[in-house]
Amino acid sequence: TEKGLKDYYQQYFPVGVAVGPSALKSPEAALILQQFNSITPENAMKMGPIHPDSTRYFWTDADAIVNFAQAHKLRVRGHNLCWHEQTPKWLFKKPNGSTVSKAVLLKRLHDHIDTVVKRYKGKIYAWDVVNEAVADNPREFLRNSEWLKICGEDFIAEAFRYAHAADPKAVLFYNDYNTERPEKMERVYKLLKKLKDAKVPIHGVGLQAHWSLQEPAEKDLRATIERFASLGLQVQITELDISVYPWEKEKRARRVDEADAYTPEMQQRQAEQYRMVFKVFRDYPKVITGVTFWNISDKYTWLDTYPVAGRKNYPLLFDQQLKPKKAFYEVVKF
Ligand code: XIL
Repeated sequence: TEKGLKDYYQQYFPVGVAVGPSALKSPEAALILQQFNSITPENAMKMGPIHPDSTRYFWTDADAIVNFAQAHKLRVRGHNLCWHEQTPKWLFKKPNGSTVSKAVLLKRLHDHIDTVVKRYKGKIYAWDVVNEAVADNPREFLRNSEWLKICGEDFIAEAFRYAHAADPKAVLFYNDYNTERPEKMERVYKLLKKLKDAKVPIHGVGLQAHWSLQEPAEKDLRATIERFASLGLQVQITELDISVYPWEKEKRARRVDEADAYTPEMQQRQAEQYRMVFKVFRDYPKVITGVTFWNISDKYTWLDTYPVAGRKNYPLLFDQQLKPKKAFYEVVKF
């Protein structure tokens, strides 16, 4: 059988992919097993899906993914324990509808993290503990989420302490996007430094890596990896895809009428961008400890519906027929 990404990168890092439970029973399952040696649940372990009522957990989908990984000896990266999106309705409210106190919210976070992390102890080697807590606005530090409004910034350190207590062997990450943009990189660095200085059990930083043909610039990517590594943290690429649309324009885009065709020029540019970023990853073998793609192939990508529905995107290494693209060959040629 042909070599997969995981084989080419065996000396470097595990190569992972984000999946839902249905992919594991589809024709894509064979591609997953051929190419990847790590998986991440795309949605199944987020607090909303896995903890829909205060007294009830929904384990079916998360268990299916972990069981598949165990059966096929894949690693699992858990995603995620604390985020401002995909939260369950009950989380920030008392039964009477008023907002909970800091003490109550931290207790809920503690119970949640304890329950989920212990269930998969020894089966999930790494967790995204806190996701996207830094603001997008360069003049702000932390995102003004319900978490921040109710708890102040303590929720971040506490989430790491709860996760570490539940599974002392798990590798714990802070995960965020646009971390290569210099002004966001500095603010993420500031948060990570605070956590390290306070002896919070944090071991790594996840660069989501929802990139484009324009971003990141090689020098910004290198600067980010080096700066985070200087704190003694490992770096993982946690949600890699390279959109064929410019990110800022994408936010304003309206459906299919603005969609560009996936031209040979774009395919070429995308292959070059993939070649560049993987060359950078290989240049930091002690720092980069994992690279995970956000979805399997262009047949299905979350970017088909985000940030606008109805516009096809082509951000991955395999095409809609699950065949390797030009970009794939650039990634494995070294
Ligand atoms: C996305 C999923 O891919 C979608 O299916 C879902 O509708 C929304 O969330 N940053 C993250 C991921 O940390 O959890 C997000 O996943 C993509 C952006």
